[in-house]
Amino acid sequence: MELSLLDLSLYTNGSPNECQILFEQVLLSCASSGFVKFVNHGIPDEKISEAFEWSRRFFTLSDAAKSKAARPSRLGPNRGWASIGQEKISKITGVIKGETSSVAIEDMKESFDLGPHDDPIFPTPWPAESDIPYFKSFMQSFYDDCHEVHMLILQILEKSLGLEKGRLSSLCGDGNAELRIAHYPPIEIRSITSGKVMRIAEHTDVGTVTLLFQDSVGGLEVENQKRPGTFIPIHSSSTSEMIVNIGDTLQRWTNEVLCSANHRVTIPVNMQHLSDGLISARISIGYFGKANRDISLRPLTEFEGNGGSRFNDEIQSQDYYTGIHERSYPAPELLT
Ligand SMILES: [Fe+2]
Repeated sequence: MELSLLDLSLYTNGSPNECQILFEQVLLSCASSGFVKFVNHGIPDEKISEAFEWSRRFFTLSDAAKSKAARPSRLGPNRGWASIGQEKISKITGVIKGETSSVAIEDMKESFDLGPHDDPIFPTPWPAESDIPYFKSFMQSFYDDCHEVHMLILQILEKSLGLEKGRLSSLCGDGNAELRIAHYPPIEIRSITSGKVMRIAEHTDVGTVTLLFQDSVGGLEVENQKRPGTFIPIHSSSTSEMIVNIGDTLQRWTNEVLCSANHRVTIPVNMQHLSDGLISARISIGYFGKANRDISLRPLTEFEGNGGSRFNDEIQSQDYYTGIHERSYPAPELLT
């Protein structure tokens, strides 16, 4: 199964009929697989290439330089540099299915997250400007580009779902997202098949939608909703293709009309028949759209009629997000 590849510019430039088809295709993909791909999303190809170049530059800094931007040890959203193995996504595997994972497998990746520009509560720790000049200004500009696309996609989902204008975007307009660059160093196939480490264990994203750009290495897979437990590879024909997936927040608000699908990063499909070999380094860039702080994650009133809900607990956005993030960075004494 190939993901739908849709032209996002039809929303602003298409005929009424083309727009209607776009709304229907977005809904179909986001409800059935939880994933869709967009071209012509408004972020220029050159800027995306530049973002990959900045990512490479950041990750080739010394650990001492990256440590100046280290992830703070406090409750809250993801910020700053997390070293290889520090995040353990396996701790949140199964959360959306109501399961609890006690397995803490190290993710063989490092990442850097930035939040809103002037976040007074959870500021982003940055590397020294002298170590990587203009990195901060570029990343903040890229964050703004992604925020605009995030708002656009929410407007399209409002149309797709028959909601009032602003129903979703007004819950997210403050900008509470995270932009993450991630580097997966080369890894032996055997290291992954042994089960001791992962690139990223299967999980769902917590927010509204995730916008992802990836290089050509491969390994990203989404769970087949028709055959749970089996996974489908997600390819990108260029780094400019934007992969968009629904997160837990939209699954909860729509009372499961939209699907927050499990996904993971593992051995690329063209190497899965091998028992030995080295998987190349991988770079990806993800923007994790989130609700404003302190927004209820109960189903919206428009979706309450869809039978009962397993998401009726009165949990607020930031508490939900923080709870999940903290699980994936377990304290050493909690590791099993
Ligand atoms: Fe994810």
